[in-house]
Amino acid sequence: MHFLSLSEFSHKELNDLVNHALELKKDPLSAFGALQGKTLALLFLKHSTRTRVSFEVAANQLGGSAIYMSPDTSQLGRGETIADTAGTLSRYVDGIVARVFEHEQIEELAKHATVPVINGLTNFNHPCQIMADLMTVKERFGRLDGVRIAFLGAADNNIVNSFLHAAPQFGAHLTVCSPKGQSLNPTARATGQRFAEASGSSIRLTHDAVDAVKDADVVYTDVWFSMHEQPSDEGKAAYMPYQVNGALMAQAPSHAIFMHCMPVHRGWEATDEVADSSQSVIFDEAENRLHIQKAIILKLLG
Ligand code: CP
Repeated sequence: MHFLSLSEFSHKELNDLVNHALELKKDPLSAFGALQGKTLALLFLKHSTRTRVSFEVAANQLGGSAIYMSPDTSQLGRGETIADTAGTLSRYVDGIVARVFEHEQIEELAKHATVPVINGLTNFNHPCQIMADLMTVKERFGRLDGVRIAFLGAADNNIVNSFLHAAPQFGAHLTVCSPKGQSLNPTARATGQRFAEASGSSIRLTHDAVDAVKDADVVYTDVWFSMHEQPSDEGKAAYMPYQVNGALMAQAPSHAIFMHCMPVHRGWEATDEVADSSQSVIFDEAENRLHIQKAIILKLLG
């Protein structure tokens, strides 16, 4: 079994992962030994702080180990194929966590690996992040069913796509608020719509930031541009009306929490005033990456 997309898992499976992670958080070493003698390869073609460190710590806290690999330190950087890398690593390790550029690369890796592959981010989705985020929301509100999530930023974004794959399965309502002219990823939207119809939740796209946050329980934003993009002044200006600042948060209910998967480009998609406010749960999200990833590892390799 691989962990590539939340759309491939049922509500029960996702809910069990969230509940297991909440249990693991109470006693981080309670599953020590479950991964004894087992090794994860962390194959990262892109930079990472949270994903890399939380998976390494998770493997250690389960009694296993992790090996970090980057193009600079492996033959991937000299042109060895993903298929040959997958075949080779499968002879050494018990699971592969991969962060790649194109989603097709992780599908290729999973196709040729004989051990579980976990998606540590692609251009299409970021399933481990969204599981940590849903855990954080449940931790705060005690439920996910009926919770209203407002995402402000790029509409066709890997965070949004994973929200579309999971939030409606839990009965959470999702509003995406983006500059005019943007639209949701059609594949992710169709999947999300199917889940929303089954659970009675809703998916909405708007271009009005105040309209998006006015009844939100969660105000979520992400970087406006991917790690390797060089945005123009015009591109940046188009997003400024969607910056999560004090004035915008004041339009949300007072109980609303602020979320960001990090790293935050402070002064762009969110201001210090919001990121460092009492409504901000960004470090809870970062911490919860560790706990949910342990639950995911145990489901796949335990
Ligand atoms: N949110 C996230 O994936 O962080 P990193 O890029 O630091 O792993």
